[in-house]
Amino acid sequence: MYSKPFPQSIAEKIIGKPCVSDTVGESDSTVLIFEDAVLKIEPTNCNANHEYAALRWLQNRLPVPEILDFAQADGQNFLLMSKLRGAMASDRIAESIEETVKALADGLQQLWRVDISDCPLDSTLGKRLQQAKYNIENGLVDTDDFESETLGENGFADVHALYDWLERARPSADLVFTHGDFCLPNIFTESGKAIGFLDLGKAGIADRWQDIALCVRSLEHNICTFCALPKAEFLRAKNLLYAALSISEDKEKLQYYILLDELF
Ligand SMILES: Nc1ncnc2c1ncn2[C@@H]1O[C@H](COP(=O)(O)OP(=O)(O)OP(=O)(O)O)[C@@H](O)[C@H]1O
Ligand SMILES: [Mg+2]
Repeated sequence: MYSKPFPQSIAEKIIGKPCVSDTVGESDSTVLIFEDAVLKIEPTNCNANHEYAALRWLQNRLPVPEILDFAQADGQNFLLMSKLRGAMASDRIAESIEETVKALADGLQQLWRVDISDCPLDSTLGKRLQQAKYNIENGLVDTDDFESETLGENGFADVHALYDWLERARPSADLVFTHGDFCLPNIFTESGKAIGFLDLGKAGIADRWQDIALCVRSLEHNICTFCALPKAEFLRAKNLLYAALSISEDKEKLQYYILLDELF
């Protein structure tokens, strides 16, 4: 929890207002939720700066929070934004897999409709692999968070072997606008529609499967682990997603983008 004084322009807008601290996010950010605003405080780094840039570029292009204020102090970014209505897809999935998957497909299609011809946000593979390398070299990769099969007997020997494989196995690119961390807690939904996108530190131009892959992985975590439903329910959700998007599974890209995300 952040304990130093807030920058003045931010303090003026929040002091004395009741708030709760979010417990969903796993990163080293602090998220304070007010009645109609949210303050996200995180160390000033590429990801946090990129999130602010992405939010600015996406205003009026996609349903993202409105920027109410932004400040940098003491090595931290302070992003004050409007509070999204609706609920996280992860809070909806237990109620209805069909409706939640429909909303996620709608979210992906909204992203793909964004015109990328003048988009300054580059999240293509070259850039992502550079960041992955930086994360490895600076001890920012937490192997405790890895999927169980990534390292070990049937997986990679270590993070360096994983990185080398990712460099060698780069798939061809089908570029669209991507969220970059399309997991269920980052997508707000209502009545089968995506009505808000959050956590945009990796948003930008990338391959379509960047988002599809993390969506599939997040569906599996939410359905099988958090809701403790049988694997068949996850497979049903995955097929519903592909049907709603009129695509078939690209196994190679699905695996590639899930493995790439291990290094973030
Ligand atoms: N503008 C907003 N409106 C409503 N809820 C929000 C908003 N911003 C953040 N939240 C809530 O706080 C949670 C964490 O926010 P966010 O995903 O931006 O933080 P994070 O620390 O980067 O999380 P992660 O672990 O996913 O990286 C969200 O899943 C959501 O529940
Ligand atoms: Mg998040």
